[in-house]
Amino acid sequence: MSDWKDYYEASKNQNLPETDQKKGLPQPPLQMAYDPKAQLIDLPDPKSCDPEQTDFLSIVESRESRRLYSEQALTLAELSYLLWMTQGVKTVSKTEVKTYTRRTVPSAGSRHPFETYLLINRVEGLSQGLYRYLALERQLLLVDGSADVNQRITDACQKQRHVQNSAVTFCWVADIARTYWRYSERSFRYILLDAGHVCQNLYLAAESIHCGTCAIAAYDDDLLNAALGVDGVHQFAAYLATLGKVA
Ligand SMILES: Cc1cc2nc3c(=O)[nH]c(=O)nc-3n(C[C@H](O)[C@H](O)[C@H](O)COP(=O)(O)O)c2cc1C
Repeated sequence: MSDWKDYYEASKNQNLPETDQKKGLPQPPLQMAYDPKAQLIDLPDPKSCDPEQTDFLSIVESRESRRLYSEQALTLAELSYLLWMTQGVKTVSKTEVKTYTRRTVPSAGSRHPFETYLLINRVEGLSQGLYRYLALERQLLLVDGSADVNQRITDACQKQRHVQNSAVTFCWVADIARTYWRYSERSFRYILLDAGHVCQNLYLAAESIHCGTCAIAAYDDDLLNAALGVDGVHQFAAYLATLGKVA
């Protein structure tokens, strides 16, 4: 308990050290780097997905956590739509001191710390594996195509069966530096709050295309970070959600 209280105290605004932004240090990149020679997969226009349900009140009212999915695959247009709804970049702006994105979700200081990793099991036109969404390019990057990646991520999520059976499991990895640059010790709070907004948009967007989703925070941090190939120091898995067509 004392560690928690220590963090709470240290992250109060009046106790924060001078931020890297205030020190005039350069801001971290908007997106994690990737091999420029990697083959990227284009995603269709998210607007090419035509949601069946668009009545906002019905969507909010019917939303629930769904853990049973049908065998039906998602289309690439549906995946593109879900990615747009959760992390879609609307604008990239530049001032003298910073570059920032505006997206379909809010984020403290518009720092947008997340990279969306996707465990893909059933999406038309994509082989199974772990991918990363490049939100700026609206493309996918294959991160890990090995046969056991589903098992490793399922195991890391305490063997929750809906991970294994999902059409797609979204995993939001926080690239801490983006938020830390502006908020120092307060960043951890903001990153977790940001994650809630992202996942809620996934819940609502899923509902509109007859998909179910379920948030996941019960996982082994070290196993999950290892399965995703992130170090757990500069980047860490903050939140996940399984998704599939409603059974
Ligand atoms: C932060 C958070 C973590 C959660 N983690 C899990 C999880 O690891 N596994 C799971 O099956 N459900 C998880 N859930 C889903 C909750 O169990 C679910 O939201 C709750 O039972 C209420 O049901 P409803 O979403 O259908 O309204 C999580 C939800 C939240 C908000």
